Amino acid sequence: MIAAEADGYAPFPGISAQIYSRADFEAVRDIVYEIAGIVLPPGKATLVYSRLAPLVRESGRQTFARYIELIRGDEAALRKAINALTTNHTFFYREAHHFEHLARHVRPVLLEKARAGEPVRLWSAGCSTGEELYSLAMTLLGPDKGQAQPFLKGNTVILATDLADHAVAGAKAARYPAEALKDVPADLVRAWSSTRDGETEMAPAVRGMIRVRRLNLLNAWPMKRGFDVIFCRNVMIYFDQPTKDRLVARFADQLLPGGHLYIGHSERVGGPAQQVMSLVGSTIYRKDQA
Ligand SMILES: C[S@@+](CC[C@H](N)C(=O)[O-])C[C@H]1O[C@@H](n2cnc3c(N)ncnc32)[C@H](O)[C@@H]1O
Repeated sequence: MIAAEADGYAPFPGISAQIYSRADFEAVRDIVYEIAGIVLPPGKATLVYSRLAPLVRESGRQTFARYIELIRGDEAALRKAINALTTNHTFFYREAHHFEHLARHVRPVLLEKARAGEPVRLWSAGCSTGEELYSLAMTLLGPDKGQAQPFLKGNTVILATDLADHAVAGAKAARYPAEALKDVPADLVRAWSSTRDGETEMAPAVRGMIRVRRLNLLNAWPMKRGFDVIFCRNVMIYFDQPTKDRLVARFADQLLPGGHLYIGHSERVGGPAQQVMSLVGSTIYRKDQA
């Protein structure tokens, strides 16, 4: 403990150092980085406090130090803490230019594959509560239900994964306030969802091609086959450069030749993946043909 804390000085405004000290913040920071790759700079100390304080109370522990002892030895409590420290902000049709690119340049190729009976595979990695996933699904299917049949009847799968349990549950539920879909083209919303009492539910046909799973992107991936499209947007912003470079290299490995990677507006492909990925649009990369 630093001298100032020993004197009773609170390192974080309004929070007693006896309850939550700088050392406690640093312990949580190290745990989250090790497990999830999420970097928590000192400026996030208050956020950590506000996200974890309800869990500290719920656990019956009097201080963060005691709570940290708990999560070090209890898998379920640790998982809850990690869930609470993820940031899941997302919305439908976020970065619309990605969906426009997909509809114009990628969908026609994938439709041909589906018509030929070939598998079509897309992945929303770090899908949060599913708004990106269903924006992707509706864009792939397009406004014409008849034309979408090769995707629906064929071997098309959209995988969606996230680390946070509540995010996975939200993506599986596939129900949103109708207002949340306001930026999605109206013909897509009409074709692939139904709205009642202000709540929009994704159509069973869409849900049938979705697989939502909990997956920590830092761990081993169980998927054996390659992907035509990977969306991983606004996830790597929480990671440091070596973690980003490793992850993007793994995405490049997991893409089929000619497959596309869409990343967030402030992100870029760096490290070894640059050898095989070409920039084909703003934050859109294509894996080179073999
Ligand atoms: C800000 S949201 C982005 C959601 C969506 N991709 C978008 O752009 O709107 C970031 C998501 O990444 C997830 N995440 C953070 N670290 C992760 C990790 N190591 N493995 C898997 N998901 C992670 C969080 O749980 C969160 O839901």
